[in-house]
Order: sequence, then C-alpha cells, then structure tokens
Amino acid sequence: MRPRRLPPCLAGTALSAALLLLLLLLCTSSSYPPLLAWPSSSGASLPAPPPPRAEWGPARPPSFAYWISGTGGDARRVLRLLRAVYHPRNRYLLHLDAGAGDEERKALAAAVRGEEPAWREFRNVDVVGHRYAVDPTGSSALAAVLHGAAVLLKVGPHWDWLLTLSAEDYPLVTQDDLLYAFSSVPRDLNFIDHTRDLGWKEHERFEKIIVDPSLYMDRNTEPFLSKETRQMPDAFQIFTGSPWLILSRSFTEHCVHGGDNLPRKLLMYFANTAYSMESYFQTLICNSSDFRNTTVNADLRYFVWDDPPGLDPLVLNESHFQNIVNSTAAFARRFEDDAPVLKKMDDEVLNRSPVQLVPEVWCRNLGKEQRGVASESCLKWGDINTFRPGRAGEKLRQFISEISQTRGCG
Ligand SMILES: *[C@@H]1O[C@H](CO)[C@@H](O)[C@H](O)[C@H]1NC(C)=O
Ligand SMILES: *[C@@H]1O[C@H](CO)[C@@H](O)[C@H](O)[C@H]1NC(C)=O
Ligand SMILES: *[C@@H]1O[C@H](CO)[C@@H](O)[C@H](O)[C@H]1NC(C)=O
Ligand SMILES: *[C@@H]1O[C@H](CO)[C@@H](O)[C@H](O)[C@H]1NC(C)=O
Repeated sequence: MRPRRLPPCLAGTALSAALLLLLLLLCTSSSYPPLLAWPSSSGASLPAPPPPRAEWGPARPPSFAYWISGTGGDARRVLRLLRAVYHPRNRYLLHLDAGAGDEERKALAAAVRGEEPAWREFRNVDVVGHRYAVDPTGSSALAAVLHGAAVLLKVGPHWDWLLTLSAEDYPLVTQDDLLYAFSSVPRDLNFIDHTRDLGWKEHERFEKIIVDPSLYMDRNTEPFLSKETRQMPDAFQIFTGSPWLILSRSFTEHCVHGGDNLPRKLLMYFANTAYSMESYFQTLICNSSDFRNTTVNADLRYFVWDDPPGLDPLVLNESHFQNIVNSTAAFARRFEDDAPVLKKMDDEVLNRSPVQLVPEVWCRNLGKEQRGVASESCLKWGDINTFRPGRAGEKLRQFISEISQTRGCG
C-alpha cells in the first residue's frame, strides 16, 4: 500500500481496492527471471528485483500493527520512533492530533513517502489525514485509538497484534527481537495490565463525571468536571490499569465491530470518565467471557514513578539507562525530544544511527561500506520472514513465555 494520507473510510476502501488492483497488475505483468538467469555483464541497468514476499499464517512469524500518536511539533520524533521500530512485516499508522497544523501533517506524510526507500517499497506506513482533537486524559484519546484500530484492520489484513505507542516512547529491543519473542506465544493473547482493586480511583475517577470537549471542539481542549456524581456500576465490574496495550487481532475486531453490545455500552459509559484509556479495554476484556482467558497481566513497558506518583511517569534520562536495559520491558517512556539517553539507546541497544533504520536480517546493506562510504539507507532486501535476535530478544522471549502461563483477570 502506498504511504498516503487516509481519506474518509469509503474513499479509503476505493483507494485500497484500486491499489490492490495495481499491485495485482504489477505482480502478474512482471515475470522476473530467476536470479541465475540475470544477464551477468550486459551493463544495461536492470529493473530492481521485487521486494521479498512476506509469508503469513499461524506457522509463520507474527506481525504487529503500530498506532503511533503525537501532537504539534512531534513529526520528527514520530519519524525517529518509526525508524527505530520499523520492519517490513509490520503495519504502521501515524497520527498527529489537532495540536499539529496541516502543514506538519503533510510534511510527515511526505517524509513517509520520500525518506526511506523501504517505506516506499513495502508500503506499510500510513498517516492519518484527518485533523481532530485529542486530550490524553479524556475519552477523545480512546476514540482515537479505536479509530486507529478500525483503519489498521481495514488496511492490514495480516497483522496479529495492535500495539499503541506515543511520540514520547522508545523501543528497548529491535523488531527482530520483538517478533522473535512473540513467535513463542499464541496469537490470541492480549497484554493488558489490569487490576480490579480500584483504590482511590473509585471515588476520584469512577464516581465523578467529566466532559471531554476534545470530542466536540476543533482544538485540543482540557476536560472539565461536572458537579454531579454517579453510582458505581453493577452491570459490569470495573478494571483499571496501564493505558499502553498490546491487543490481539480478534479482540481488536471485537472492540471495533463485535456483535456483543458490551464494547459500545462501555464506550459510552467511559466517555464521561477521566483517563478512560486506563479502564475501557481492561473492563471490556475482563467482563467478556470469550476473551477473559486470553488476558496476560502485563504491558511490557518501562516507567519510573515519582514518590508519591504524579499523573505521568518521570521523564527518563541517562541515569535510568542501566535499569532500562536491565528491565524485561519491550518499550519505555517518557523521553524528551532528542534526549541524550535516546542516542545511547540507538548506539548500545538498537545498533543504529539516529537517522537510520535498525540493521536487521531483512535489510542487507545498512552500515556496510560501499566504495568506502557506509550506507545510510536500506536498499537491499534480505529475508523478511526470519530474524536474528540478540540477547535482549532471548530475554524478552523467556519473559513473555513465563508471564503467558498465567491468564485471565484473577
Ligand atoms: C464482569 O467481570 C466479572 C469479573 O471478571 C465477572 O464475574 C462478570 O460476570 C462480568 N460481567 C459480565 C456482564 O460479563
Ligand atoms: C476460562 O478459564 C476458566 C478457568 O480456567 C474455565 O473454567 C473457562 O471454561 C474458560 N473459558 C473459556 C471461554 O475458555
Ligand atoms: C534524571 O532524572 C532524575 C529523576 O527525574 C532526576 O532526579 C535527575 O536530576 C535527572 N538527571 C539528569 C542528568 O537530568
Ligand atoms: C543490571 O544487571 C546486571 C547483570 O544482571 C547487574 O550486574 C547490574 O547490577 C544491573 N544493574 C542495575 C543498575 O540494576
């Protein structure tokens, strides 16, 4: 799929169909000779070989759909994060909320079209073209994630897990590591940190009623509190936890267009709850008999909380580096734009320069010298169905296998 700004759904479907047709045409009309049959010294410039085909299915490696969200001024950060988590098997959907102007959104789409040959070749990165408001503490953030889920289900028929990230996040493992680690567990598992112990949140979050104007205003607008309060529900039990999720494809489908009414009832209920991203998916999965048993109580993220904890985790810096690397998480947050610790992560964990993709099995030339110059971008494709995990990948695989033994909502 060409990186493109996503138009409304209908246009999207038409476009996908047109692109699919185009791809089919390309595939059927270009019968490339096998490698051995290439004329060896004709000197004529040869057509580029087709990109390697991804292989899909339960016996093949998994694939992730990334929802990466940011706000005004985040475009460069989002691109840096995209390079750090890019793999041709995955799907990526980038979103800048109403804090960003159309120029920045267009610049992001142009960068996706132009900056990396791999993004053009594999066409697995999209940018949301619509501008809409989001407040991270309100239900507009939940609406945005469900929007991303719906689009990713439509454009990406093969991915296994939906993974949410923001511009303030960074990976602690390569995609070779991550895909290798997740190869070891059933594809229907949902990694959702949750608890039924609501503590102070019962009174402060669930008995209070908030209104999120970002649902109906053009600009990002902070929620306000209503004077009214409400009872705790008795039609379902509330669960709460981390807003950062890894959802199975089947549970994502259930949220977006499941035949059960609970996904919609809870969506409306949590519209007036503060931080509904910390409760919606948790409550939905734990009250759904079909999915409860697929829940693993972990978000695989690294945070540091102040004492007493503030509303957001602490900003991470070099003093946290050793603990970050020692952790069993796959991602960490929050980082400041261009923080020196990110450079350290690039150098020591991802083995890449801040302007490059991560050199992995699928990319054969990156970092290798050609005519005395180290190659800056990925131009030669290797196998995209095999990985070369490092120690971090082995550690993550072992950790995920361990925690996946315990499923359900306790
Ligand atoms: C909600 O979740 C609780 C705990 O998992 C469960 O006992 C209850 O049956 C669920 N409610 C519904 C309506 O499924
Ligand atoms: C979920 O797990 C419980 C306890 O192990 C079991 O009784 C129940 O049948 C399982 N439900 C489904 C839908 O698999
Ligand atoms: C790193 O973060 C910690 C905790 O927020 C803070 O105490 C410390 O001063 C920071 N160090 C630097 C070098 O910024
Ligand atoms: C990180 O792990 C290594 C090896 O397990 C240990 O020696 C070291 O003390 C740990 N560092 C921190 C900061 O926890």
